Amino acid sequence: MKVTVSRKAHFNAAHRLYRPDWDDAKNNEIFGKCNNPNYHGHNYEMIVSVTGKIDPETGYVMDVKVLKDLIRSEVENAFDHKNLNLDVPEFKNLNPTAENIVVVIWNKLRKHISTSLDLEVVLYETPRNFVKYAGE
Ligand code: NI
Repeated sequence: MKVTVSRKAHFNAAHRLYRPDWDDAKNNEIFGKCNNPNYHGHNYEMIVSVTGKIDPETGYVMDVKVLKDLIRSEVENAFDHKNLNLDVPEFKNLNPTAENIVVVIWNKLRKHISTSLDLEVVLYETPRNFVKYAGE
């Protein structure tokens, strides 16, 4: 029997999508408004889920307070009110698309979560656009 425990969190961050090896026309064509040279912000929302067996001693799959603190230290403190391109080392040479951001978040959290638990992260860049990564 496996149960999934989820925690919602959010951060606000700025980004710009572009490739320095492409000219302006190509960057505009591919990345549209997200290519704005002066950056722009998103209110990112995420749902972090861990799945595993219930510990018979505690009745927990994972203490949600521990998960909350982990999201705060690894994601919110690192990304909130930051310019992802300029302030976050993971995106120095990686386009901060929702796809790349969710993989970075997953990798940061995975290191600190028991290998007996499965981890999935859903990241909303807008209320209608979201991505999901579970480490495959
Ligand atoms: Ni954008």
